[in-house]
Amino acid sequence: MRILSGVQSSGRLHIGNYYGALRQFVQLQDEGEGYYFIANLHALTTVREPKAALALAREAAMAYLSLGLDPKKAVLFRQSDVREVLELYWILGTVTPHAHLERAHSYKDKVAKGISPDFGLFAYPVLMAADILLYSADFVPVGKDQIQHIEFARDWAVKFNTQYVPGYDPADPEGKERGHAPGILKLPSARIQEATQTVPGVDGQKMSKSYGNTIELFGDEKEIKKRIMSIKTDSTPVDAPKPTVDSPLYDLLKLMLPESEFAEVDATWKAGGKGYGDYKKKLLEAYHATFGPARQRYAELAADPGEVERILQDGASRARAEATRLMDQVRKAVGIP
Ligand code: TRP
Repeated sequence: MRILSGVQSSGRLHIGNYYGALRQFVQLQDEGEGYYFIANLHALTTVREPKAALALAREAAMAYLSLGLDPKKAVLFRQSDVREVLELYWILGTVTPHAHLERAHSYKDKVAKGISPDFGLFAYPVLMAADILLYSADFVPVGKDQIQHIEFARDWAVKFNTQYVPGYDPADPEGKERGHAPGILKLPSARIQEATQTVPGVDGQKMSKSYGNTIELFGDEKEIKKRIMSIKTDSTPVDAPKPTVDSPLYDLLKLMLPESEFAEVDATWKAGGKGYGDYKKKLLEAYHATFGPARQRYAELAADPGEVERILQDGASRARAEATRLMDQVRKAVGIP
């Protein structure tokens, strides 16, 4: 079983990315053959500064590695290192109904948020489908907002196979029955990350780069402290019981503390007697206990860019072997020498 997942390298990673996605991605490396890539071509839809584009892709790779992705088990690579993806993207685009792209939620949401409605943003789902189909992925772990993109990938794979594979029957995509041929493009399934909590940012809204309310995973230590100390609280006096609803501080403690420690915090929180400042200190400790080892590895990797590049190149060559195999079939099927 092949599991493929991508992160777009469009910003510094924060604890919302960790609890919402990265943690599960890293756990999945033990469940199947993992393909993990950094979507740095997709990132160009928002990152317009070349130095930032390079640095953010490298940082995303270092983040994966320091959070426990094992490049011996999983294939870790940069999207742009396997150029075949752009060829498949074009060919898929020739069977992609324009009307599907016009219905894309993510495109509409992004435009509503003020991202420039360029062709690349419009065509984003086609490149994403190419990412998935190029490596014949079985499962793609994604958040709910990406389900439609996976459905598109399935639809277009069926269209491609129907058009170009003689004997293909969409009702039997693997060609299990006599007289049917298996498709060239394998149909992927979304694996929805249900259990992930929404992580609140320091202002109480959902933690998101676009709200400027994040606590970074690998940011500067002083800045992290400042962020945690700035978490929005109300004016409940020290002695009084604290409200648990609409309290990002309470929610973050719950998320980050081990259960038994959280139980103690929960008891004093509800009884009163401790001030918010004490709880913020507790959260800062929990942050360092949780991410300290990963931050240490990250610092080591940052000091050894050659090693990161070597891992990425090795991943790219393993990914490219798969991509080449698939593209040989695709080219032959469509009539490209
Ligand atoms: N669109 C995904 C996101 O914003 C990133 C991504 C690009 C991706 N290509 C992918 C995810 C392929 C899974 C599979 O998070």
